[in-house]
Formats: sequence, C-alpha cells, structure tokens
Amino acid sequence: MKLTMIMKAVWIAALGLGVLAAGAVSAEPRYVGAKDCGGCHKAEMQDWQRSVHGKAIETLAAGKKSGPKHKAGLDPDKDYSSDEKCLKCHTTGFKQKGGFVDRNSTPDLAGVGCEACHGPGSDYRAIHKSKMLDFKRTETRAAGATYASKGDKVCENCHNTDSPFKPSVDPKYAFDLKERLKTKTESFHQINPLDGNHD
Ligand code: HEC
Ligand code: HEC
Ligand code: HEC
Ligand code: HEC
Repeated sequence: MKLTMIMKAVWIAALGLGVLAAGAVSAEPRYVGAKDCGGCHKAEMQDWQRSVHGKAIETLAAGKKSGPKHKAGLDPDKDYSSDEKCLKCHTTGFKQKGGFVDRNSTPDLAGVGCEACHGPGSDYRAIHKSKMLDFKRTETRAAGATYASKGDKVCENCHNTDSPFKPSVDPKYAFDLKERLKTKTESFHQINPLDGNHD
C-alpha cells in the first residue's frame, strides 16, 4: 500500500514535469496586437495611430501615394491591400505565430505595430504587467522583447533592399538608424523617459 502511494506520487510528479517541459517547448512568444499594449501605453498608442507605421496598410490601397508607387515601377491604380508580397512589411507578424492574417480577423495587427519593433508581446507583456517598474531587460529580452536602439536589427527587417522603395529608386530611402531615431520618431511615437530602472 505504502509503495503504491509512493509510486503514485512519483508518477504524478513525472506527469507534472512532462507537462511543464511540453509547455516550455511550445512557449514561443506570439503576437498579441497593439490594443493589448495601448491600455497601459496610451501616449505611445495615440502617437502611433497617427503615424506612417500605424497607417502603413492604408498606403497599399489603390490611389494612395501614387507618385512614389509610379516612380518605383508599381501600378498606382492597383489595390495591393491583400498582396502577400507587400503585407510582410506593411503589417505586424505576417505569417508568424499570432501575427497578421487579414484585416477582418486580425485588425489589431494591421500596419507596422508595436510588436514589429518591440518583438512578439505575449510573454514580455505578462512581465510588464506583473513587475511594472521592477523588471530587467535581460528577462524581457529572454521573453522575446527587442530593442532597436540597443543593436537589435529590427528596423532592417523591412528597411532593406527587398522593398520597392530602396536607395536605387531614390537616395532618400537609404536607412540610417541613428538619424531616423533622432529626427524621425514621429514616424512611430515620441520617446518618453521611463520611471523604472530596467538595466
Ligand atoms: C514591419 C516592417 C517595418 C519595421 C520593422 C520598421 N519599419 Fe519603418 N516603415 C515601414 C513602412 C512600410 C513604412 C512606410 C509606411 C507608409 O508610407 O505607409 C515605414 C516608414 C518609416 C519612416 C518614415 C519615412 C519618412 O521618410 O518619413 C521612418 C522614419 C521609419 N520607417 C523608421 C523606422 C525605424 C527607426 C524602425 C525601427 C525602430 C522601423 N522603421 C521599423 C516598415 C517598417
Ligand atoms: C521588404 C519590405 C517591404 C516590402 C516587401 C514592401 N514594402 Fe512598401 N515600404 C517599405 C518601407 C521600409 C517603406 C519606407 C521607405 C522609406 O521611407 O524609407 C515603404 C514605403 C512604401 C510606400 C511609400 C513610399 C513613399 O515614398 O511615401 C508605398 C506606397 C509602399 N511602400 C507600397 C508598397 C507596395 C505596394 C508593396 C508591394 C508591391 C510594398 N510596398 C512592399 C517596406 C516594404
Ligand atoms: C517603428 C518602430 C516602433 C513602433 C511601431 C513602436 N515603437 Fe515603441 N519604441 C521604439 C523605439 C526605437 C524605442 C526606444 C527603445 C528601443 O530601442 O526599443 C521605443 C520605446 C518605447 C517605449 C519606452 C519609451 C517610452 O516612450 O515610454 C514604450 C513604452 C513603447 N516604445 C511602446 C510602444 C507601443 C505601445 C507601441 C504601439 C502602440 C510602439 N511602442 C510602437 C520603436 C517603435
Ligand atoms: C499592464 C500594463 C502593461 C501592458 C499591457 C504592457 N506594458 Fe509595456 N510597460 C509597462 C510598464 C509599467 C513599463 C515600465 C515603465 C517605466 O519604467 O516607466 C513598461 C515598459 C515598456 C517598454 C520599455 C521597456 C524597456 O525595457 O525599455 C516598452 C518598449 C513597452 N513597455 C512595450 C510594450 C508593448 C509593445 C506591449 C504590448 C505587447 C506592452 N508594453 C504591454 C506596462 C505594460
């Protein structure tokens, strides 16, 4: 009888470990959408909604930004809004876990959202929520957060020569990270000082 109890305990413990291990393996961060960030980050959300990144999917519609499209050899009268070649850089997490599918089923992932620059948010969002001012960047990084200003090459996922708008079309499309972070933050949001020390 005693042995059976022990066996049972061992078995339950093993089952628990198995479940944990399976959880850890499949726990790859997924995209959650800008709405799940905006509740806590209101100022950034408001800036972003007005910005070119926030509206990047609208640019794909027929008749929008016709001059630049024409110059890049695209058809200004064509609707590119569901063209997969364009969506990978004009939406958030296209074809990735939890990422953009289409405007009806994933409206919060249309445009270049928070997570296109900050990384898929399911796991670090939970850290922000539970630790608030007390989390460290080593733990948010491990949970999928990315930092463009600290050497992670996130902007370059889209600002590259696979884009129709590359420097050979017009030198103004050359991407200089330092310059754009310094003078062009209106393209996403004003950068505000943080209250916590996350280093
Ligand atoms: C998921 C793709 C993607 C990522 C990641 C991305 N961008 Fe962009 N960016 C775009 C697209 C698309 C546009 C054009 C939007 C439009 O005109 O509709 C754009 C436009 C811009 C513009 C405006 C251009 C101008 O001259 O006014 C700036 C500045 C910019 N991005 C900087 C950045 C920086 C800095 C980062 C990284 C911190 C970044 N982008 C990350 C896709 C991306
Ligand atoms: C590899 C990523 C990528 C792909 C693919 C891509 N774009 Fe973009 N697009 C960008 C980036 C980055 C910018 C901003 C360039 C800048 O201002 O420096 C941009 C800007 C634009 C602009 C605004 C240009 C301007 O001068 O205002 C239009 C219009 C546009 N894209 C349409 C499209 C269409 C249509 C497609 C599909 C045929 C497409 N893009 C595919 C990354 C991409
Ligand atoms: C085009 C890229 C881009 C997009 C889109 C973007 N951010 Fe950021 N954000 C940055 C960069 C760059 C920084 C500076 C820190 C870093 O390197 O990540 C930053 C910093 C921040 C900070 C810390 C500083 C501050 O202003 O409080 C917060 C919070 C933030 N972003 C939230 C958001 C939220 C919420 C969204 C979506 C509504 C968003 N961001 C969209 C690029 C972006
Ligand atoms: C429950 C509230 C909450 C939610 C939801 C939330 N955050 Fe945060 N976030 C915070 C707090 C609190 C901080 C720390 C602010 C400070 O130190 O001033 C923070 C900090 C940040 C920073 C700066 C952190 C750093 O390491 O530099 C970024 C970027 C950010 N959040 C992006 C996001 C994004 C993107 C989402 C959605 C995926 C999100 N947050 C969801 C509360 C939240």
